[in-house]
Amino acid sequence: MVRDTIRFWRNGQAVEVSGFHPRTTLLDYLRLQERRVGTKEGCAEGDCGACTVALGRIRGGRVHYEPINACILLLGQVDGAELVTVEDLAASGELHPVQSAMVAHHGSQCGFCTPGIVMSLFTLYHEGERPLSRDNVNDALAGNLCRCTGYRPIVDAALEACSGQADDSFSANGERTTQGLMRLADGRDVFVGNESRFFAAPASEASLAALYAQHPDATLVAGCTDVGLWITKAMMEIEKIIWLGRVAGLDAIEESSDALGIGATVTHAEIHPSLARIDPDLGEIMRRFGSVQVRASGTVGGSIANGSPIGDLAPVFIALGAELELRHGDAVRNLPLENFFIAYRRQDRMPGEFVRRVSVPKLKGDEAFRAYKISKRFDEDISSALGAFKFTLDGRRIAAARIAFGGMAGTPKRALETERALVGVSLDEPASWGEAMAAIARDYQPLDDHRASSAYRSTVARNLVFKALSETASGETRATRIAGRREALQAAE
Ligand SMILES: Cc1cc2nc3c(=O)[nH]c(=O)nc-3n(C[C@H](O)[C@H](O)[C@H](O)COP(=O)(O)OP(=O)(O)OC[C@H]3O[C@@H](n4cnc5c(N)ncnc54)[C@H](O)[C@@H]3O)c2cc1C
Ligand code: FES
Ligand code: FES
Repeated sequence: MVRDTIRFWRNGQAVEVSGFHPRTTLLDYLRLQERRVGTKEGCAEGDCGACTVALGRIRGGRVHYEPINACILLLGQVDGAELVTVEDLAASGELHPVQSAMVAHHGSQCGFCTPGIVMSLFTLYHEGERPLSRDNVNDALAGNLCRCTGYRPIVDAALEACSGQADDSFSANGERTTQGLMRLADGRDVFVGNESRFFAAPASEASLAALYAQHPDATLVAGCTDVGLWITKAMMEIEKIIWLGRVAGLDAIEESSDALGIGATVTHAEIHPSLARIDPDLGEIMRRFGSVQVRASGTVGGSIANGSPIGDLAPVFIALGAELELRHGDAVRNLPLENFFIAYRRQDRMPGEFVRRVSVPKLKGDEAFRAYKISKRFDEDISSALGAFKFTLDGRRIAAARIAFGGMAGTPKRALETERALVGVSLDEPASWGEAMAAIARDYQPLDDHRASSAYRSTVARNLVFKALSETASGETRATRIAGRREALQAAE
Protein backbone atom coordinates (compact mmCIF):
# COMPACT_ATOMS: atom_id res chain seq x y z
CA MET A 1 0.00 0.00 0.00
CA VAL A 2 1.24 3.49 -0.88
CA ARG A 3 2.06 5.91 1.95
CA ASP A 4 1.02 9.56 1.44
CA THR A 5 3.24 11.03 4.15
CA ILE A 6 6.93 11.15 4.91
CA ARG A 7 8.17 9.98 8.29
CA PHE A 8 11.39 10.68 10.11
CA TRP A 9 12.87 10.40 13.59
CA ARG A 10 13.32 13.59 15.59
CA ASN A 11 14.17 14.08 19.28
CA GLY A 12 13.34 10.49 20.15
CA GLN A 13 10.04 10.20 18.31
CA ALA A 14 8.58 9.65 14.86
CA VAL A 15 7.37 12.74 12.98
CA GLU A 16 4.94 12.45 10.07
CA VAL A 17 4.51 15.24 7.48
CA SER A 18 2.00 15.36 4.66
CA GLY A 19 0.71 17.83 2.10
CA PHE A 20 4.00 19.66 1.53
CA HIS A 21 5.06 21.18 -1.80
CA PRO A 22 7.49 18.78 -3.54
CA ARG A 23 10.09 21.58 -3.87
CA THR A 24 10.18 22.36 -0.14
CA THR A 25 13.75 22.31 1.08
CA LEU A 26 14.68 20.93 4.47
CA LEU A 27 16.03 24.36 5.43
CA ASP A 28 12.72 26.06 4.66
CA TYR A 29 10.87 23.38 6.60
CA LEU A 30 13.10 23.89 9.64
CA ARG A 31 13.03 27.68 9.61
CA LEU A 32 9.49 28.35 8.40
CA GLN A 33 7.49 25.39 9.74
CA GLU A 34 9.32 24.13 12.82
CA ARG A 35 10.58 27.69 13.50
CA ARG A 36 13.93 26.19 14.48
CA VAL A 37 16.11 29.01 13.18
CA GLY A 38 19.47 27.86 14.58
CA THR A 39 20.16 26.38 11.15
CA LYS A 40 21.22 29.31 8.96
CA GLU A 41 21.01 30.17 5.29
CA GLY A 42 24.20 31.62 3.83
CA CYS A 43 24.72 30.81 0.16
CA ALA A 44 21.70 28.54 -0.53
CA GLU A 45 23.86 26.50 -2.91
CA GLY A 46 25.77 24.01 -0.82
CA ASP A 47 29.01 25.97 -0.56
CA CYS A 48 29.15 27.62 2.88
CA GLY A 49 27.85 24.97 5.29
CA ALA A 50 25.86 27.44 7.45
CA CYS A 51 22.81 25.21 6.96
CA THR A 52 24.52 21.96 8.01
CA VAL A 53 22.35 19.48 9.89
CA ALA A 54 23.00 15.80 10.62
CA LEU A 55 21.05 12.87 9.23
CA GLY A 56 21.32 9.49 10.93
CA ARG A 57 20.65 6.29 9.02
CA ILE A 58 21.26 2.67 9.95
CA ARG A 59 24.51 1.30 8.55
CA GLY A 60 26.30 -1.77 9.79
CA GLY A 61 23.59 -2.29 12.42
CA ARG A 62 23.94 1.13 14.09
CA VAL A 63 23.00 4.76 13.50
CA HIS A 64 25.55 6.46 11.25
CA TYR A 65 25.55 10.29 11.19
CA GLU A 66 26.41 12.40 8.14
CA PRO A 67 26.47 16.20 7.69
CA ILE A 68 24.02 17.50 5.09
CA ASN A 69 23.43 20.89 3.50
CA ALA A 70 19.77 21.52 4.40
CA CYS A 71 19.52 24.34 1.81
CA ILE A 72 19.75 21.91 -1.12
CA LEU A 73 18.09 18.87 0.39
CA LEU A 74 14.38 18.34 -0.17
CA LEU A 75 12.20 17.83 2.88
CA GLY A 76 11.02 14.51 1.41
CA GLN A 77 14.59 13.20 1.40
CA VAL A 78 14.67 12.91 5.20
CA ASP A 79 12.14 10.08 5.00
CA GLY A 80 13.40 7.16 7.09
CA ALA A 81 16.25 9.12 8.72
CA GLU A 82 16.95 10.70 12.09
CA LEU A 83 17.11 14.49 11.75
CA VAL A 84 19.41 16.32 14.18
CA THR A 85 19.78 20.11 14.26
CA VAL A 86 21.91 22.39 16.40
CA GLU A 87 19.02 22.94 18.84
CA ASP A 88 19.06 19.23 19.72
CA LEU A 89 22.65 18.91 20.95
CA ALA A 90 22.64 20.37 24.46
CA ALA A 91 21.13 17.90 26.93
CA SER A 92 19.84 18.59 30.47
CA GLY A 93 21.18 22.16 30.33
CA GLU A 94 24.70 20.97 29.42
CA LEU A 95 26.38 21.89 26.16
CA HIS A 96 27.40 19.05 23.86
CA PRO A 97 31.18 18.30 24.04
CA VAL A 98 31.76 19.91 20.61
CA GLN A 99 29.92 23.05 21.73
CA SER A 100 31.93 23.22 24.98
CA ALA A 101 35.19 22.85 23.04
CA MET A 102 34.17 25.64 20.64
CA VAL A 103 33.55 27.91 23.66
CA ALA A 104 36.79 26.90 25.38
CA HIS A 105 38.88 27.51 22.25
CA HIS A 106 37.13 30.76 21.24
CA GLY A 107 35.95 29.15 18.01
CA SER A 108 33.21 31.70 17.31
CA GLN A 109 33.06 35.44 16.75
CA CYS A 110 30.00 36.72 14.86
CA GLY A 111 28.53 33.23 15.22
CA PHE A 112 26.79 32.96 11.87
CA CYS A 113 28.80 29.95 10.71
CA THR A 114 28.88 28.38 14.20
CA PRO A 115 25.73 26.20 14.11
CA GLY A 116 26.88 24.66 10.82
CA ILE A 117 30.38 24.11 12.12
CA VAL A 118 29.04 22.57 15.32
CA MET A 119 26.90 20.18 13.30
CA SER A 120 29.84 19.14 11.11
CA LEU A 121 31.85 18.55 14.29
CA PHE A 122 28.94 16.58 15.77
CA THR A 123 29.21 14.10 12.88
CA LEU A 124 33.00 14.03 13.22
CA TYR A 125 32.53 13.35 16.95
CA HIS A 126 30.48 10.28 16.02
CA GLU A 127 32.10 9.05 12.81
CA GLY A 128 35.58 10.52 12.29
CA GLU A 129 38.72 8.46 11.88
CA ARG A 130 40.65 7.55 15.03
CA PRO A 131 43.32 8.64 15.71
CA LEU A 132 42.09 11.99 14.42
CA SER A 133 44.63 14.19 12.66
CA ARG A 134 44.59 17.91 11.82
CA ASP A 135 44.28 16.87 8.13
CA ASN A 136 41.18 14.80 8.97
CA VAL A 137 39.63 17.83 10.68
CA ASN A 138 40.51 20.09 7.75
CA ASP A 139 38.78 17.66 5.38
CA ALA A 140 35.75 17.49 7.69
CA LEU A 141 35.46 21.29 7.68
CA ALA A 142 36.14 21.90 3.96
CA GLY A 143 32.43 22.56 3.45
CA ASN A 144 32.10 25.08 6.30
CA LEU A 145 33.15 28.67 5.68
CA CYS A 146 34.07 30.95 8.56
CA ARG A 147 34.81 34.50 7.58
CA CYS A 148 35.82 36.04 10.90
CA THR A 149 37.16 33.62 13.52
CA GLY A 150 39.81 31.90 11.44
CA TYR A 151 40.10 28.14 11.43
CA ARG A 152 42.92 27.49 13.92
CA PRO A 153 40.77 27.72 17.08
CA ILE A 154 37.96 25.76 15.40
CA VAL A 155 40.34 22.98 14.41
CA ASP A 156 41.80 22.97 17.93
CA ALA A 157 38.28 22.61 19.33
CA ALA A 158 37.62 19.72 16.96
CA LEU A 159 40.82 17.94 17.91
CA GLU A 160 39.97 18.25 21.59
CA ALA A 161 36.34 17.18 21.33
CA CYS A 162 36.42 14.57 18.58
CA SER A 163 39.52 12.48 19.31
CA GLY A 164 37.88 9.92 21.61
CA GLN A 165 34.88 7.64 21.41
CA ALA A 166 31.42 9.23 21.19
CA ASP A 167 29.80 9.53 24.63
CA ASP A 168 26.73 11.75 24.46
CA SER A 169 22.94 11.43 24.62
CA PHE A 170 22.89 10.23 20.99
CA SER A 171 25.25 7.32 21.65
CA ALA A 172 23.36 6.55 24.88
CA ASN A 173 20.07 6.43 22.93
CA GLY A 174 21.61 4.58 19.95
CA GLU A 175 19.67 1.34 20.46
CA ARG A 176 16.34 3.14 20.85
CA THR A 177 17.01 5.26 17.74
CA THR A 178 17.97 2.15 15.76
CA GLN A 179 14.69 0.49 16.76
CA GLY A 180 12.79 3.64 15.80
CA LEU A 181 14.46 3.86 12.39
CA MET A 182 13.80 0.17 11.75
CA ARG A 183 10.10 0.75 12.44
CA LEU A 184 10.10 3.60 9.88
CA ALA A 185 11.62 1.37 7.17
CA ASP A 186 8.31 -0.03 5.96
CA GLY A 187 9.35 -0.73 2.34
CA ARG A 188 6.25 1.04 1.01
CA ASP A 189 6.12 3.39 -1.97
CA VAL A 190 5.67 7.03 -0.95
CA PHE A 191 3.47 9.37 -2.99
CA VAL A 192 2.64 12.80 -1.51
CA GLY A 193 0.43 14.97 -3.72
CA ASN A 194 -1.65 14.34 -6.81
CA GLU A 195 -1.12 13.45 -10.49
CA SER A 196 -0.02 16.99 -11.43
CA ARG A 197 2.14 17.85 -8.41
CA PHE A 198 3.85 15.25 -6.25
CA PHE A 199 6.84 14.10 -4.27
CA ALA A 200 7.23 10.36 -4.85
CA ALA A 201 9.74 7.95 -3.37
CA PRO A 202 9.31 4.49 -4.88
CA ALA A 203 10.65 1.63 -2.82
CA SER A 204 11.51 -0.77 -5.64
CA GLU A 205 12.99 -0.57 -9.13
CA ALA A 206 9.77 -1.94 -10.59
CA SER A 207 7.74 0.87 -8.95
CA LEU A 208 10.27 3.46 -10.11
CA ALA A 209 10.28 2.16 -13.68
CA ALA A 210 6.46 2.14 -13.80
CA LEU A 211 6.06 5.59 -12.21
CA TYR A 212 8.72 7.21 -14.41
CA ALA A 213 7.30 5.62 -17.57
CA GLN A 214 3.91 7.08 -16.54
CA HIS A 215 5.40 10.52 -15.73
CA PRO A 216 8.43 10.95 -18.02
CA ASP A 217 8.15 14.73 -17.39
CA ALA A 218 8.96 14.22 -13.69
CA THR A 219 12.35 15.29 -12.35
CA LEU A 220 14.43 12.49 -10.89
CA VAL A 221 16.26 13.46 -7.72
CA ALA A 222 19.03 11.37 -6.24
CA GLY A 223 21.19 13.48 -3.86
CA CYS A 224 19.74 16.82 -5.02
CA THR A 225 23.15 18.55 -5.03
CA ASP A 226 22.44 19.74 -8.59
CA VAL A 227 18.63 19.85 -8.61
CA GLY A 228 18.70 21.76 -5.31
CA LEU A 229 20.34 24.69 -7.08
CA TRP A 230 17.74 24.67 -9.83
CA ILE A 231 15.26 25.31 -7.01
CA THR A 232 17.17 27.81 -4.87
CA LYS A 233 19.05 29.68 -7.62
CA ALA A 234 17.21 29.18 -10.92
CA MET A 235 13.81 29.27 -9.15
CA MET A 236 12.58 26.46 -11.38
CA GLU A 237 8.96 25.45 -11.03
CA ILE A 238 9.44 21.71 -10.56
CA GLU A 239 6.07 20.15 -9.87
CA LYS A 240 6.76 16.40 -10.08
CA ILE A 241 9.66 14.90 -8.19
CA ILE A 242 10.67 11.25 -8.01
CA TRP A 243 13.31 10.68 -5.34
CA LEU A 244 15.48 7.61 -5.90
CA GLY A 245 16.84 7.35 -2.35
CA ARG A 246 14.42 4.64 -1.19
CA VAL A 247 14.70 2.34 -4.23
CA ALA A 248 15.96 -0.98 -2.88
CA GLY A 249 19.08 -2.27 -4.62
CA LEU A 250 20.01 0.94 -6.49
CA ASP A 251 22.44 1.69 -3.64
CA ALA A 252 24.40 -1.55 -4.02
CA ILE A 253 28.15 -1.78 -4.58
CA GLU A 254 29.17 -5.09 -6.15
CA GLU A 255 32.87 -5.80 -6.14
CA SER A 256 34.53 -8.63 -8.07
CA SER A 257 38.21 -9.27 -8.71
CA ASP A 258 38.13 -7.31 -11.96
CA ALA A 259 35.33 -4.72 -11.69
CA LEU A 260 33.27 -2.51 -9.44
CA GLY A 261 29.50 -2.39 -10.05
CA ILE A 262 28.17 0.87 -8.63
CA GLY A 263 24.42 1.37 -8.18
CA ALA A 264 23.08 4.77 -9.29
CA THR A 265 22.26 6.00 -5.78
CA VAL A 266 25.58 5.06 -4.19
CA THR A 267 26.87 8.30 -2.70
CA HIS A 268 30.32 9.74 -3.26
CA ALA A 269 31.09 9.11 0.42
CA GLU A 270 30.14 5.44 0.08
CA ILE A 271 32.15 4.78 -3.08
CA HIS A 272 35.25 6.71 -1.96
CA PRO A 273 37.05 3.76 -0.25
CA SER A 274 36.41 1.34 -3.14
CA LEU A 275 37.70 3.83 -5.72
CA ALA A 276 40.75 4.61 -3.58
CA ARG A 277 41.57 0.90 -3.60
CA ILE A 278 41.59 0.88 -7.43
CA ASP A 279 44.13 3.70 -7.48
CA PRO A 280 45.28 6.34 -4.94
CA ASP A 281 44.61 9.14 -7.46
CA LEU A 282 40.94 8.14 -7.49
CA GLY A 283 40.88 8.41 -3.70
CA GLU A 284 42.38 11.89 -3.92
CA ILE A 285 39.84 12.99 -6.56
CA MET A 286 37.06 11.82 -4.23
CA ARG A 287 38.60 13.55 -1.20
CA ARG A 288 38.46 16.79 -3.17
CA PHE A 289 34.96 16.18 -4.59
CA GLY A 290 32.89 19.03 -3.12
CA SER A 291 32.83 18.71 0.67
CA VAL A 292 31.83 16.07 3.21
CA GLN A 293 28.27 17.42 2.97
CA VAL A 294 28.20 17.19 -0.85
CA ARG A 295 29.75 13.71 -0.83
CA ALA A 296 27.21 12.50 1.75
CA SER A 297 24.27 13.47 -0.51
CA GLY A 298 25.58 13.49 -4.10
CA THR A 299 25.43 10.20 -5.97
CA VAL A 300 27.42 8.49 -8.69
CA GLY A 301 24.30 8.17 -10.87
CA GLY A 302 23.44 11.86 -10.45
CA SER A 303 26.97 12.90 -11.33
CA ILE A 304 26.82 10.92 -14.60
CA ALA A 305 23.19 11.60 -15.50
CA ASN A 306 23.51 15.37 -15.22
CA GLY A 307 25.92 15.27 -18.18
CA SER A 308 28.06 18.09 -16.82
CA PRO A 309 31.18 18.68 -18.96
CA ILE A 310 33.07 19.52 -15.75
CA GLY A 311 31.91 16.62 -13.57
CA ASP A 312 34.79 14.75 -11.96
CA LEU A 313 33.61 11.16 -12.22
CA ALA A 314 32.81 10.83 -15.93
CA PRO A 315 36.36 11.42 -17.26
CA VAL A 316 37.99 9.06 -14.75
CA PHE A 317 35.41 6.36 -15.41
CA ILE A 318 35.77 6.80 -19.20
CA ALA A 319 39.55 6.44 -18.95
CA LEU A 320 39.03 3.23 -16.98
CA GLY A 321 36.64 1.90 -19.68
CA ALA A 322 33.36 2.02 -17.71
CA GLU A 323 29.99 0.73 -18.99
CA LEU A 324 26.66 2.31 -18.15
CA GLU A 325 23.41 0.43 -17.52
CA LEU A 326 20.11 2.19 -18.23
CA ARG A 327 16.55 1.00 -17.60
CA HIS A 328 13.25 1.99 -19.21
CA GLY A 329 10.17 0.10 -18.07
CA ASP A 330 11.36 -3.52 -18.06
CA ALA A 331 14.05 -2.97 -20.72
CA VAL A 332 17.69 -2.71 -19.64
CA ARG A 333 20.48 -1.69 -22.00
CA ASN A 334 24.24 -1.19 -21.66
CA LEU A 335 26.55 1.19 -23.43
CA PRO A 336 30.14 2.39 -23.06
CA LEU A 337 30.00 5.44 -20.78
CA GLU A 338 31.75 7.64 -23.36
CA ASN A 339 28.85 7.09 -25.80
CA PHE A 340 26.32 8.36 -23.26
CA PHE A 341 27.49 11.96 -23.68
CA ILE A 342 26.25 13.17 -27.08
CA ALA A 343 26.64 16.96 -26.94
CA TYR A 344 26.65 19.74 -24.35
CA ARG A 345 24.10 18.66 -21.70
CA ARG A 346 22.57 16.12 -24.14
CA GLN A 347 22.78 12.48 -23.20
CA ASP A 348 21.68 9.22 -24.81
CA ARG A 349 18.72 8.81 -22.45
CA MET A 350 15.10 8.38 -23.53
CA PRO A 351 12.20 10.02 -21.69
CA GLY A 352 11.31 7.73 -18.79
CA GLU A 353 14.73 6.03 -18.81
CA PHE A 354 17.01 6.12 -15.79
CA VAL A 355 20.63 5.32 -14.95
CA ARG A 356 20.70 2.05 -13.10
CA ARG A 357 24.34 1.25 -12.57
CA VAL A 358 27.88 1.86 -13.80
CA SER A 359 30.45 -0.88 -14.08
CA VAL A 360 34.06 0.24 -13.65
CA PRO A 361 36.89 -2.16 -14.59
CA LYS A 362 39.74 -2.42 -12.11
CA LEU A 363 43.33 -1.93 -13.24
CA LYS A 364 45.27 -4.93 -14.51
CA GLY A 365 48.88 -5.68 -13.55
CA ASP A 366 50.29 -4.08 -16.72
CA GLU A 367 48.19 -0.91 -16.45
CA ALA A 368 49.18 2.42 -14.89
CA PHE A 369 46.70 5.15 -13.97
CA ARG A 370 47.01 8.85 -13.18
CA ALA A 371 44.30 11.48 -12.67
CA TYR A 372 44.59 15.21 -11.99
CA LYS A 373 41.93 17.68 -10.89
CA ILE A 374 42.81 21.26 -11.76
CA SER A 375 40.78 23.83 -9.83
CA LYS A 376 41.32 27.24 -8.28
CA ARG A 377 41.10 25.88 -4.71
CA PHE A 378 42.07 22.44 -3.49
CA ASP A 379 38.84 21.96 -1.54
CA GLU A 380 35.19 22.46 -2.40
CA ASP A 381 35.80 23.61 -5.95
CA ILE A 382 34.60 22.55 -9.38
CA SER A 383 37.29 21.50 -11.88
CA SER A 384 38.58 23.88 -14.53
CA ALA A 385 39.92 20.72 -16.16
CA LEU A 386 40.34 17.11 -15.11
CA GLY A 387 42.60 14.69 -16.95
CA ALA A 388 42.58 10.91 -16.47
CA PHE A 389 45.15 8.57 -18.05
CA LYS A 390 45.31 4.78 -18.28
CA PHE A 391 48.43 3.36 -19.91
CA THR A 392 48.80 -0.32 -20.82
CA LEU A 393 52.50 -1.06 -20.59
CA ASP A 394 54.64 -3.53 -22.48
CA GLY A 395 57.75 -3.30 -20.33
CA ARG A 396 58.87 0.33 -20.62
CA ARG A 397 56.79 1.01 -23.75
CA ILE A 398 53.17 2.14 -23.99
CA ALA A 399 51.15 -0.53 -25.77
CA ALA A 400 47.81 1.31 -25.50
CA ALA A 401 46.39 4.41 -23.83
CA ARG A 402 42.93 5.60 -22.75
CA ILE A 403 42.77 9.28 -21.90
CA ALA A 404 39.72 11.38 -21.03
CA PHE A 405 39.31 14.97 -19.97
CA GLY A 406 36.56 17.00 -18.38
CA GLY A 407 36.39 20.77 -18.85
CA MET A 408 37.96 20.65 -22.31
CA ALA A 409 34.83 20.25 -24.48
CA GLY A 410 31.02 20.35 -24.26
CA THR A 411 31.09 16.80 -22.87
CA PRO A 412 33.58 14.63 -21.00
CA LYS A 413 35.61 13.32 -23.95
CA ARG A 414 38.41 10.94 -24.92
CA ALA A 415 41.66 12.27 -26.40
CA LEU A 416 41.76 9.84 -29.32
CA GLU A 417 44.58 11.54 -31.28
CA THR A 418 46.79 11.67 -28.20
CA GLU A 419 46.01 8.03 -27.41
CA ARG A 420 47.13 7.02 -30.93
CA ALA A 421 50.29 9.12 -30.72
CA LEU A 422 51.30 7.38 -27.51
CA VAL A 423 51.29 3.83 -28.87
CA GLY A 424 54.87 2.55 -28.97
CA VAL A 425 56.30 5.51 -27.06
CA SER A 426 59.14 4.65 -24.66
CA LEU A 427 58.88 5.86 -21.07
CA ASP A 428 62.67 6.19 -21.07
CA GLU A 429 62.82 8.59 -24.04
CA PRO A 430 61.09 11.87 -23.15
CA ALA A 431 62.16 13.20 -26.56
CA SER A 432 59.60 10.79 -28.09
CA TRP A 433 56.68 12.26 -26.09
CA GLY A 434 56.44 15.47 -28.16
CA GLU A 435 54.00 14.14 -30.77
CA ALA A 436 51.51 13.10 -28.06
CA MET A 437 51.81 16.46 -26.30
CA ALA A 438 51.13 18.23 -29.60
CA ALA A 439 48.21 15.91 -30.43
CA ILE A 440 46.19 17.05 -27.44
CA ALA A 441 45.67 20.42 -29.17
CA ARG A 442 43.93 18.55 -32.03
CA ASP A 443 41.74 16.60 -29.56
CA TYR A 444 40.32 19.63 -27.76
CA GLN A 445 39.50 23.24 -28.58
CA PRO A 446 38.29 24.32 -25.12
CA LEU A 447 36.09 27.31 -24.37
CA ASP A 448 36.83 30.43 -22.37
CA ASP A 449 34.65 30.79 -19.30
CA HIS A 450 34.81 32.27 -15.82
CA ARG A 451 36.76 29.27 -14.52
CA ALA A 452 39.59 29.32 -17.06
CA SER A 453 40.56 30.63 -20.48
CA SER A 454 40.83 28.40 -23.51
CA ALA A 455 44.60 29.03 -23.68
CA TYR A 456 45.03 28.10 -20.01
CA ARG A 457 43.08 24.87 -20.43
CA SER A 458 45.07 23.89 -23.55
CA THR A 459 48.39 24.52 -21.80
CA VAL A 460 47.27 22.58 -18.72
CA ALA A 461 46.15 19.59 -20.82
CA ARG A 462 49.47 19.49 -22.66
CA ASN A 463 51.37 19.72 -19.37
CA LEU A 464 49.26 16.96 -17.83
CA VAL A 465 50.21 14.59 -20.68
CA PHE A 466 53.86 15.27 -19.82
CA LYS A 467 53.20 14.91 -16.09
CA ALA A 468 51.38 11.58 -16.47
CA LEU A 469 54.21 10.21 -18.63
CA SER A 470 57.02 11.43 -16.37
CA GLU A 471 55.30 10.18 -13.19
CA THR A 472 54.67 6.79 -14.81
CA ALA A 473 58.29 6.67 -16.00
CA SER A 474 59.78 7.51 -12.60
CA GLY A 475 57.11 5.89 -10.42
CA GLU A 476 57.43 8.95 -8.15
CA THR A 477 55.33 12.02 -7.42
CA ARG A 478 57.51 13.77 -4.81
CA ALA A 479 58.87 16.29 -7.30
CA THR A 480 55.68 16.73 -9.32
CA ARG A 481 52.97 17.31 -6.69
CA ILE A 482 52.45 19.60 -3.75
CA ALA A 483 49.38 17.68 -2.56
CA GLY A 484 47.99 14.20 -3.08
CA ARG A 485 51.41 12.56 -3.45
CA ARG A 486 50.94 8.89 -4.28
CA GLU A 487 53.72 7.80 -1.94
CA ALA A 488 51.91 9.34 1.05
CA LEU A 489 48.49 8.04 -0.05
CA GLN A 490 49.84 4.51 -0.55
CA ALA A 491 51.61 4.58 2.84
CA ALA A 492 48.35 5.66 4.53
CA GLU A 493 46.38 2.68 3.13
C1 LIG B 1 28.84 22.78 -3.29
C2 LIG B 1 28.94 21.80 -4.41
C3 LIG B 1 30.17 21.28 -4.76
C4 LIG B 1 30.28 20.39 -5.82
N1 LIG B 1 31.50 19.88 -6.12
C5 LIG B 1 31.63 19.02 -7.15
C6 LIG B 1 32.90 18.50 -7.49
O1 LIG B 1 33.92 18.77 -6.84
N2 LIG B 1 32.97 17.67 -8.57
C7 LIG B 1 31.87 17.34 -9.30
O2 LIG B 1 31.98 16.58 -10.26
N3 LIG B 1 30.65 17.81 -8.99
C8 LIG B 1 30.51 18.64 -7.94
N4 LIG B 1 29.26 19.13 -7.62
C9 LIG B 1 28.11 18.77 -8.46
C10 LIG B 1 27.25 17.63 -7.89
O3 LIG B 1 27.57 17.34 -6.57
C11 LIG B 1 27.41 16.36 -8.64
O4 LIG B 1 27.08 16.54 -9.98
C12 LIG B 1 26.55 15.31 -7.96
O5 LIG B 1 27.18 14.12 -7.92
C13 LIG B 1 25.15 15.18 -8.51
O6 LIG B 1 24.56 14.06 -7.89
P1 LIG B 1 23.15 14.12 -7.18
O7 LIG B 1 22.85 12.75 -6.76
O8 LIG B 1 23.14 15.15 -6.13
O9 LIG B 1 22.25 14.57 -8.42
P2 LIG B 1 20.83 15.27 -8.42
O10 LIG B 1 20.98 16.71 -8.15
O11 LIG B 1 19.86 14.52 -7.62
O12 LIG B 1 20.50 15.05 -9.98
C14 LIG B 1 21.33 15.59 -11.00
C15 LIG B 1 20.72 15.30 -12.38
O13 LIG B 1 20.77 13.92 -12.66
C16 LIG B 1 19.44 13.39 -12.82
N5 LIG B 1 19.49 12.07 -12.19
C17 LIG B 1 19.91 11.78 -10.93
N6 LIG B 1 19.97 10.45 -10.77
C18 LIG B 1 19.56 9.89 -11.94
C19 LIG B 1 19.41 8.55 -12.40
N7 LIG B 1 19.69 7.49 -11.64
N8 LIG B 1 19.00 8.36 -13.67
C20 LIG B 1 18.72 9.41 -14.50
N9 LIG B 1 18.83 10.69 -14.11
C21 LIG B 1 19.25 10.94 -12.85
C22 LIG B 1 18.51 14.40 -12.19
O14 LIG B 1 17.23 14.35 -12.75
C23 LIG B 1 19.26 15.69 -12.52
O15 LIG B 1 19.01 16.03 -13.85
C24 LIG B 1 29.12 20.01 -6.55
C25 LIG B 1 27.86 20.51 -6.18
C26 LIG B 1 27.77 21.39 -5.11
C27 LIG B 1 26.43 21.92 -4.73
S1 FES C 1 23.30 27.89 3.00
FE1 FES C 1 25.36 27.72 2.30
S2 FES C 1 25.58 25.55 2.19
FE2 FES C 1 23.50 25.81 2.65
S1 FES D 1 32.27 33.31 13.41
FE1 FES D 1 31.71 34.80 11.93
S2 FES D 1 31.70 33.66 10.08
FE2 FES D 1 32.51 32.31 11.50
